[in-house]
Amino acid sequence: MRTRPLKVALLGCGVVGSEVARIMTTHADDLAARIGAPVELAGVAVRRPSKVREGIDPALVTTDATALVKRGDIDVVVEVIGGIEPARTLITTAFENGASVVSANKALLAQDGAALHAAAEQADKDLYYEAAVAGAIPLIRPLRESLAGDKVNRVLGIVNGTTNFILDKMDSTGAGYQEALDEATALGYAEADPTADVEGFDAAAKAAILAGIAFHTRVRLDDVYREGMTEVTAADFASAKQMGCTIKLLAICERAPDGGSVTARVHPAMIPLTHPLASVRGAYNAVFVESDAAGQLMFYGPGAGGSPTASAVLGDLVAVCRNRLSGTTGPGESAYAALPVSPMGDVVTRYHISLDVADKPGVLAQVATVFAEHDVSIDTVRQTGKGGEASLVVVTHRASDASLRGTVGALRKLDTVRGVASIMRVEGE
Ligand SMILES: NC(=O)c1ccc[n+]([C@@H]2O[C@H](COP(=O)([O-])OP(=O)(O)OC[C@H]3O[C@@H](n4cnc5c(N)ncnc54)[C@H](OP(=O)(O)O)[C@@H]3O)[C@@H](O)[C@H]2O)c1
Repeated sequence: MRTRPLKVALLGCGVVGSEVARIMTTHADDLAARIGAPVELAGVAVRRPSKVREGIDPALVTTDATALVKRGDIDVVVEVIGGIEPARTLITTAFENGASVVSANKALLAQDGAALHAAAEQADKDLYYEAAVAGAIPLIRPLRESLAGDKVNRVLGIVNGTTNFILDKMDSTGAGYQEALDEATALGYAEADPTADVEGFDAAAKAAILAGIAFHTRVRLDDVYREGMTEVTAADFASAKQMGCTIKLLAICERAPDGGSVTARVHPAMIPLTHPLASVRGAYNAVFVESDAAGQLMFYGPGAGGSPTASAVLGDLVAVCRNRLSGTTGPGESAYAALPVSPMGDVVTRYHISLDVADKPGVLAQVATVFAEHDVSIDTVRQTGKGGEASLVVVTHRASDASLRGTVGALRKLDTVRGVASIMRVEGE
């Protein structure tokens, strides 16, 4: 074993960074044996230097992250600050100064992954980010390496623990959205400002990263269609139950049937209770991958938290250190397929539409005509009368999102349709 240690600069020592530092210390001997050289924590960049950080030598702590990555003797920079800047500049500076990089930063990778990969390639260094998607769950490396010989057609996942916790609460207790969110906040599953989670931004960043790797194509955050889950109601769950379904916030990346394009989207959807993703409870994450040769694979586990996320960071750290010792780099960006990313209107799926209508003869025929005129074929209709009003639930066969939008627009114009109570896609069948 080499005795000269590999030097690691840790940028950020919060929820994830503090656990990375702890495991690097407590597992130092095992890590050294697995890598073939000891790893040494050479510096820790933070924002608040006076904060007490258990197990961290105060002499290593600095607020000057730029000076740390420019030292010239750093082998690996671990970026767990988060956000776009200064993380982006620090990562490119790390490459320019000869270091490889491990990051957990989904927002940055989804926005600027291509440029960062290019910087890594130019410097002949590694950029690894297993922790950026679904915390501890091995997903990037299986897609990039284990499935490199297969053809992935679909990635369908629950990649945000906060929203899964909220939806699971609504499902199991009948609670409304706000009540379930309040509980998630009280238990520490939701942040004080939950926007990034409940509006689907976090899941959309992960969908962009997963789609890019799965389809060997650049997919940016802006390419991902996104709908949050704040409008999901207890009534939607009641409807889902009647259909033998539950509701999950899903990230869905698909190759078009003709193989010529891909789509990536995040939105709440009904899935059958028999689908493996329906049994993912609480704050857990799971990702279902469908490929030509392997068939269906499911990856399941804790998608966040300091220690689980640090596990993924450490796995990358070991891989990157091994590469440095052998003078190689691991796989970089694979975007050779360069498939176009189609808009949401081209996505084909099934829909569950709940309408408030006048309870009088001929309404059903009127509504059915609108569906037919827009080429959306109806699978089932359920009508429940309530005085002069009725509730009409229509479940369609597969149709394009554009056709469905046209249908709903026309339905809203009918005198007999008082309102469109909800539109929910049905997935996983
Ligand atoms: N938390 C999770 O469960 C989880 C899961 C998967 C991925 N991630 C990703 O991991 C990354 C870190 O998340 P986290 O939850 O650990 O965040 P966090 O707890 O907020 O920690 C951020 C750390 O960065 C430091 N920092 C902030 N601005 C800085 C600057 N300008 N220069 C130097 N240091 C700076 C902070 O310093 P102070 O300590 O002085 O404030 C803190 O130590 C993010 O990209 C996140 O998306 C997190």
